Amino acid sequence: MAAKTELLSRIAAGDGHGENSSYFDGWKAYDSDPFHLHHNPDGVIQMGLAENQLSLDLIEEWSINHPEASICTAQGASQFKRIANFQDYHGLPEFRQAMAKFMGQVRGGKVTFDPDRIVMSGGATGAQDTLAFCLADPGEAYLVPTPYYPAFDRDCCWRSGVKLLPIECHSSNDFRLTREALVAAYDGARIKGIRVKGILITNPSNPLGTTLDRGTLAMLATFATDHSVHLICDEIYAGSVFAKPEFVSVAEVIERDVPGCNRDLIHIAYSLSKDFGLPGFRVGIIYSYNDAVVSCARKMSSFGLVSSQTQYFLAKMLSDEEFMARFLAESARRLAARHESFTSGLREVGIGCLRGNAGLFSWMDLRGMLREKTPEAELELWRVIIHKVKLNVSPGTSFHCDEPGWFRVCHANMDDDTMEVALERIRHFVRQHQQQQQQQKAKAQRWAARAQLRVSMPRLGGAAASYFALSSPMALQSPQSPMVQAAS
Ligand SMILES: Cc1ncc(COP(=O)(O)O)c(C=O)c1O
Repeated sequence: MAAKTELLSRIAAGDGHGENSSYFDGWKAYDSDPFHLHHNPDGVIQMGLAENQLSLDLIEEWSINHPEASICTAQGASQFKRIANFQDYHGLPEFRQAMAKFMGQVRGGKVTFDPDRIVMSGGATGAQDTLAFCLADPGEAYLVPTPYYPAFDRDCCWRSGVKLLPIECHSSNDFRLTREALVAAYDGARIKGIRVKGILITNPSNPLGTTLDRGTLAMLATFATDHSVHLICDEIYAGSVFAKPEFVSVAEVIERDVPGCNRDLIHIAYSLSKDFGLPGFRVGIIYSYNDAVVSCARKMSSFGLVSSQTQYFLAKMLSDEEFMARFLAESARRLAARHESFTSGLREVGIGCLRGNAGLFSWMDLRGMLREKTPEAELELWRVIIHKVKLNVSPGTSFHCDEPGWFRVCHANMDDDTMEVALERIRHFVRQHQQQQQQQKAKAQRWAARAQLRVSMPRLGGAAASYFALSSPMALQSPQSPMVQAAS
């Protein structure tokens, strides 16, 4: 094997893809034993996939009602030759126009987008790869608030050699990004001699399921301008906001709130993978305010064009404004309902989630179930959840969260029945854990009381007696996690 990789480039032979990471264990467990409500009810339920399956029926229905949108139907075949031959990397003009209009619609009509600034890419994945290529040289860095989408390590770094440096965010303020944390990360990089070229944010956040507020976005745009660093905003979940506060796009902020912003530094990545549940279409967008970036990225888009057939179909669908409005409203309603049923189901057993208003997942707080507050204990718990509870959820460490005990749980990629089974498994697991904890606590108390009795002789006195009680192995032992027992 080693001999074969020697024949490759250093980048190709390296592990920049991240596929060998232990975090893929959950996927392997799912792949080898996938849940099916009827055929494999004891299998592993996939909750590690941020996929939106809740509203695909609406798109299916639209496509049935609009056969002319497909070049492979009697109604659309007249366009077959034109579309099949089209390969201009600027993209179909009608596609870029429809996309620009839709991007404005998703942002509540508060901003407009210029179709000539839209560059196509293979999903948001391709968009980040291209942007990193355009914006930074190998060894230069982006600052990224934690926790962040794990595949950024692949998308931004693998080919371009960019480094990602964390901006540490914490649960004490609901993982909000503060200027102090940003400055600390920026100064830390400079002390190490690393040139910071950009700040990469995801708004709404994956994995937090929250939106950035206007003030934070304005602070970021101002910081970017003051320090001449790029601000790259992944807005892939822009149309998946289901509750207040409303989504605010960086596009709106630079127009309204930071008039002095250097727009050459602002770039948006978007895709139809999440809001529409169409990751297979591989429709990604770079929207840059920088002419040179648009020009370079467009030339590079030859490496990841969106099929003209897909562009054609989407041009028709996205420009149906009435359908889009209905779709976005209904999708938000369904996402809200799913989010509510999941989080309220967890509350029944005392499990909380970060208060979220967007996305296809919840950021679940299992800190109280850790054997100790370490990444190792989080991974122990995670393995139990995968192999015993049979849910493939994602541990916080995989999102570079530096506070152990948080897990991202996706809940929009399944039907209601599967969702109920998953919830019931979590509740059962948590109840079992609580019972065992109570039993162990009671046992420890009995042990300590007995020890106290034995030593509370006048000769030893109260202080010595309590020392004895405290130093008993049982009293000092933290409650043994049943999850660890189950893992063995
Ligand atoms: C924040 C974020 N960006 C990008 C992507 C990749 O999306 P795409 O399928 O469009 O490449 C994902 C997918 O999970 C994501 O969550």
